[in-house]
Amino acid sequence: MNNIIKAGDCKESLREISSSSVDLVYLDPPFFTQRTQSLKTRDNSGEYSFCDSWDSIQDYCIYIKERLFECKRVLKETGSIFLHCDKTASHYIRVLLDELFGMDNFQSEIIWHYRRWSNAKKGLLNSHQTIFFYSKSKEFKFNHIFDDYSPTTNIDQIFQKRVRDTHGKTTYKVAENGDYELMTGKRGVPLSDVWYIPYLNPKARERVGYPTQKPLILLEQLIKLVTDEGDVVLDPFCGSGTTLVAAKILGRNYIGFDISEDAIQLVKKRLENPVRTESNLLKNGEQAYINQDVDIFRILCELDAVPVQRNKGIDGFLKIDDEVKPVPIKIQRKDESVEVAKNLLERASSKNKFLCKILIKTNENHDISLFDLSEDNTIIVEQVEDFIAHKQDVVREYLGEREGYLYG
Ligand SMILES: C[S@@+](CC[C@H](N)C(=O)[O-])C[C@H]1O[C@@H](n2cnc3c(N)ncnc32)[C@H](O)[C@@H]1O
Repeated sequence: MNNIIKAGDCKESLREISSSSVDLVYLDPPFFTQRTQSLKTRDNSGEYSFCDSWDSIQDYCIYIKERLFECKRVLKETGSIFLHCDKTASHYIRVLLDELFGMDNFQSEIIWHYRRWSNAKKGLLNSHQTIFFYSKSKEFKFNHIFDDYSPTTNIDQIFQKRVRDTHGKTTYKVAENGDYELMTGKRGVPLSDVWYIPYLNPKARERVGYPTQKPLILLEQLIKLVTDEGDVVLDPFCGSGTTLVAAKILGRNYIGFDISEDAIQLVKKRLENPVRTESNLLKNGEQAYINQDVDIFRILCELDAVPVQRNKGIDGFLKIDDEVKPVPIKIQRKDESVEVAKNLLERASSKNKFLCKILIKTNENHDISLFDLSEDNTIIVEQVEDFIAHKQDVVREYLGEREGYLYG
């Protein structure tokens, strides 16, 4: 079949698609945020936006339901639908999906979890969105995906076959020669319904500057789960075309609609040259980023500091209290002179207006007093044990002497 990309209201465009012809519908409609979503293009020359303001939640539900009705019609009996939403209206949408697809065809509520750093508002930090997964029938296509075992899993036990004893309790199966019998075909842990996938960072290569653009990795995982090569994937609210790009990369056919002509132009361009950002965090695992030297890490722990990874000039940040801005710490390495360590700290801090910085000397005696109030705002610590015991007072006293800086 030919791939289709079309501008217009998906309610109308969906009517042009034959019944029972699509393997997967993924939809990421407006979330009922009651505002216009907008974002500057990558080169700052323009702006993409779409309206997400409604008269009432009832109006919103009618709008979603009318389009879901068409989505169901175009799905094959073996097909599945994934609806992406967030906490704003997920409870209403789940009821709509139950009504249309039947509660029996509800498969999963996928939680897309990501990390965010913000302490701007009162309440818990939002760090997930929801994707409802319904099948059209019990005969839906499903490809198993396996995750790695967690580092704490006892792999040797996982690989041992189990049997039930006469009391119904499970025990390890023992072969005739007395050894435990091993399993074959254990491929990892079946994919769960909580997916940790980083949010696209502002500098990600695949970011095109479209508001609410989703990461390709997320769409690739959904597509792999319920389709095979050559199958048809449809996204009625395709925005920047993430679903279509993922489908193309994976050798699936694609159909995409969006009400915005600008979005459709962007999709066409994106499909000509698909760009995908590798997530190093996902590829290498979090442990790979913990590269602190053990001794340095120990000092940071004793200081109750937050460690910083992959930074030559700053090893961590000291926690003073909520009102004092973060204080960077550098711990002198065995092969570093105090001057070199101090310069590295200076350079790493140059773009930030830190109230003070701390350099912990670990070797090379110098004629510097215990907490040297040097010309710049670096406190040089000679006796780390003393400093650990009095760090709050030392920093507060230092900041207090620099009037105007305290709590600045
Ligand atoms: C949340 S965004 C989709 C973002 C997309 N998943 C991505 O990764 O770029 C929702 C999109 O729905 C589009 N839209 C809103 N109403 C529509 C309608 N009735 N028919 C088709 N598209 C619509 C908006 O223009 C917007 O691009």
